[in-house]
Amino acid sequence: MKDRRKLFRLMIGGVVTAYLLLAGYWVFTGRFREDKMKETVIWQSETEKDDKPEETGGKKIALTFDDGPHPVYTPMLLEGLKKRGVKVTFFLMGSAVEKYPDIVKQIADDGHLIGNHTFHHVGLENADTALIESEVVSANELIEKIAGERPQFIRPPFGQCDDGIESDTGMICVLWSIDPQDWCTKDASKVVKRVMANAKDNGIILLHDQYKTSVMAAFTIIDELQKEGYEFVTVDEILLD
Ligand code: NI
Repeated sequence: MKDRRKLFRLMIGGVVTAYLLLAGYWVFTGRFREDKMKETVIWQSETEKDDKPEETGGKKIALTFDDGPHPVYTPMLLEGLKKRGVKVTFFLMGSAVEKYPDIVKQIADDGHLIGNHTFHHVGLENADTALIESEVVSANELIEKIAGERPQFIRPPFGQCDDGIESDTGMICVLWSIDPQDWCTKDASKVVKRVMANAKDNGIILLHDQYKTSVMAAFTIIDELQKEGYEFVTVDEILLD
């Protein structure tokens, strides 16, 4: 009888010990699991941060096209811009606006910004009131009649901007910071290379929609710079910030 009771006590003791050991193990591994989970969460958030490109958006750049509209290359450009959802700035010549009003309407309808590039592509250095009237104001009036909005920006031909133009017309002169000399090289890949090498935040790119090579270059420039996180904007978004 005594032996059986001893055996029973031993058995109970064994069960209790086993239970305590099991509980201890469970608590230990539970904490370990928690640590592991925390570690995983930290690792995930760190890698998520690393996966992001260095700069997401924030970089703005503007494409500008002078001397248009052109009967063939401007519509070609408009089509490619629409496909890419990109807005640009056109500095139109009054004499070309007169010839191709439908293209000017299309530019405005597509939501691009229209600026003035004088009526006959004349230099405005030391321009007197009569010249400003016949070259700048007249082009503004014509553009407003067709596009519905009076241009606020002017790109003076040959980059000749003096304070007189701005104070006399109340317009804002827009020059450029990236000039790939597209009119001179007429080589799309050279134009792309030059722009890519000089692209910068708030840059203003000078092109002419007078050449097929410039239009083709513009499409590649858009595709490449968008990959680098650039957002294409019209010049007002760069100058009036
Ligand atoms: Ni020009």
